[in-house]
Amino acid sequence: MRIAETGPDDERFTAWCRVWAASQRADRPGDPPRPASDHVALARRLLAPGGSLRGTHRALLLGDAVVGALRLLLPVRDNPTVAHVDLAIHPGHRRRGIGGLLLAEAVRLAGAAGRTEVVTEVDEPGPQVAGRGFALRHGWRCDLAESRRDLLLPPDEARLCALEEQARAAGRGYEVVTWRDRTPDALLDDRALLERRMTTDAPHGDLPVQEEHWDAARVREYEDAHLARGRTVLSAGAVTGSRLVAFTDLQVPLEHPALAQQGGTLVLREHRGRRLGALVKAAVLREVAATLPAVRRITTYNAESNRAMVAVNEALGFRRAGRLSTWSRRI
Ligand SMILES: CC(C)(COP(=O)(O)OP(=O)(O)OC[C@H]1O[C@@H](n2cnc3c(N)ncnc32)[C@H](O)[C@@H]1OP(=O)(O)O)[C@@H](O)C(=O)NCCC(=O)NCCS
Repeated sequence: MRIAETGPDDERFTAWCRVWAASQRADRPGDPPRPASDHVALARRLLAPGGSLRGTHRALLLGDAVVGALRLLLPVRDNPTVAHVDLAIHPGHRRRGIGGLLLAEAVRLAGAAGRTEVVTEVDEPGPQVAGRGFALRHGWRCDLAESRRDLLLPPDEARLCALEEQARAAGRGYEVVTWRDRTPDALLDDRALLERRMTTDAPHGDLPVQEEHWDAARVREYEDAHLARGRTVLSAGAVTGSRLVAFTDLQVPLEHPALAQQGGTLVLREHRGRRLGALVKAAVLREVAATLPAVRRITTYNAESNRAMVAVNEALGFRRAGRLSTWSRRI
């Protein structure tokens, strides 16, 4: 058994992606795993100079076969103490200590990069997932529990109309705008502020993360990263006095457009209480129906403490489908 570095330009990375896919299929058989092209694009982004994220990949080899996959992500512009760990072990090779070996490697690499906290996510479709037992066994702390909710499309028309009517009445003075993939130049600085607020205003539980530094260039980097990963992003925003004060993003993987993923949604603090969250989410649903009718399901994750966002999602017809927990450990 040995651990080797891997990356987007070597042959081993294909096997690394396969292990990831096998692991995802075992844990959520109903959902297609992330395509290899998505991992390759992320890996290339980590190597690009000047980006906001660095990182590295390791493969655990049994003879010549890759059976474990590790990705370490290191924020560059902010959060200098944090390393994000992604770990997947082939389902045929679990419970043999391989996860533990790769985790020790992750901790070593994070420490060598000057990080003092490691953070990881565990997808929990049901009560008995391996990741939870593993995280507990290794002394990680669960800092954030989010519920996953799915909305099957098309949404109930009467429900959507009622929500739109209420939102329009409450949101007089705000104009709804929509765009795809690239925020209009005139709204770019406002969009950067909204992204920054996502990292302070959305619940982060006890996670050891700080406010992120976003500017126009980082928004463009983020948008380019989605395109490179084969995702198109539909967005809706609320504008008043030519300032963008609320937004929502919906990410659609072009290889599997049936299954979309909710991105961020945020209303600036001083504009809350006017149903702008519902307004932009309803607008993006209309946009999906008009431009990407292949989308059949939208998945979103929310902390239950985020009552406002959960209420909007429930009103739209989103229903619970497991949870996502985020764990951390000091090293
Ligand atoms: C979580 C995962 C990485 C564990 O890999 P692994 O190689 O099986 O882990 P190890 O053999 O090193 O397990 C170490 C300990 O973790 C705990 N553990 C691992 N799998 C478990 C499970 N299914 N249920 C309960 N505890 C479990 C046990 O305490 C285990 O020790 P034991 O086998 O002596 O009882 C693997 O199941 C996986 O890839 N899951 C999907 C991806 C994921 O959840 N990643 C997040 C990881 S933080």
